[in-house]
Amino acid sequence: MNASEQLVEKTIPQHVAIIMDGNGRWAKKKGKIRTFGHQSAVKAVRASVSYALKNGVQVLTLFAFSSENWNRPAEEVGVLMSLFNMVLGSEVKKLHKNKVRLKIIGDTSRFDSKLADKIHQAEVLTEKNDSLVLNIAANYGGRWDIVNATKALLVKVQAGELAIADINEESFTSETSTAGLPAVDLMIRTGGEQRISNFLLWQTAYAELFFSDTFWPDFNEDCFQTAVDAFADRQRRFGKTSEQVT
Ligand code: IPE
Ligand code: IPE
Ligand code: MG
Repeated sequence: MNASEQLVEKTIPQHVAIIMDGNGRWAKKKGKIRTFGHQSAVKAVRASVSYALKNGVQVLTLFAFSSENWNRPAEEVGVLMSLFNMVLGSEVKKLHKNKVRLKIIGDTSRFDSKLADKIHQAEVLTEKNDSLVLNIAANYGGRWDIVNATKALLVKVQAGELAIADINEESFTSETSTAGLPAVDLMIRTGGEQRISNFLLWQTAYAELFFSDTFWPDFNEDCFQTAVDAFADRQRRFGKTSEQVT
């Protein structure tokens, strides 16, 4: 490994998770309806994927729809679902060309069968791609993920495939929706709120948090770079003292 590769390894987060927030307020500020904000969010998604590809981020996890977002007005939920459907259709080809592996994480059982099929096809198509793992969290909840992993472990215990003594952080992680992927290094939230909103709870145990006042539709590669620069300036201690890690 040469010096510049070492530098990349040190400063570029392997796994970045983004809470893409602020679409509604962005639209309102422009005198438009909330759903205009969602439609305008696609550009920022493309920019963040492009940044991740160019800069060697290995995993990008985007929060698109939370398990709590079903509580929004039916009309807005409808627009979000059809937008998700449309974007899946329009973007997959390009993602595949760029060797992006697409995964939808969340409880997809609540989606209609047409959307579920489309998700499955996109995942199978891009399965072997290795330039970037792009997780789209849809109908995702961090608590759901934890409960789901717990159930999967219990099924194995019940079948006699796993001993209770073998339940540990590693085997638990392997049943979560991000199994096989590194934990989140950097979690970004746009839109000014400073909360997790039931996003990746298990996976962000030691993530660096970065909050931006930028509304998601205005997020671009420069904004991503600002967050990565802030990340590079942090000292991750993982419980140790500052002297131990320098
Ligand atoms: C994030 O933007 C998108 C989703 C939650 C689907 P919002 O729609 O939450 O935008 P604000 O927070 O109301 O501005
Ligand atoms: C979190 O944003 C979910 C997504 C960005 C998809 P919300 O706007 O739903 O979060 P709260 O409700 O303000 O915490
Ligand atoms: Mg919001």
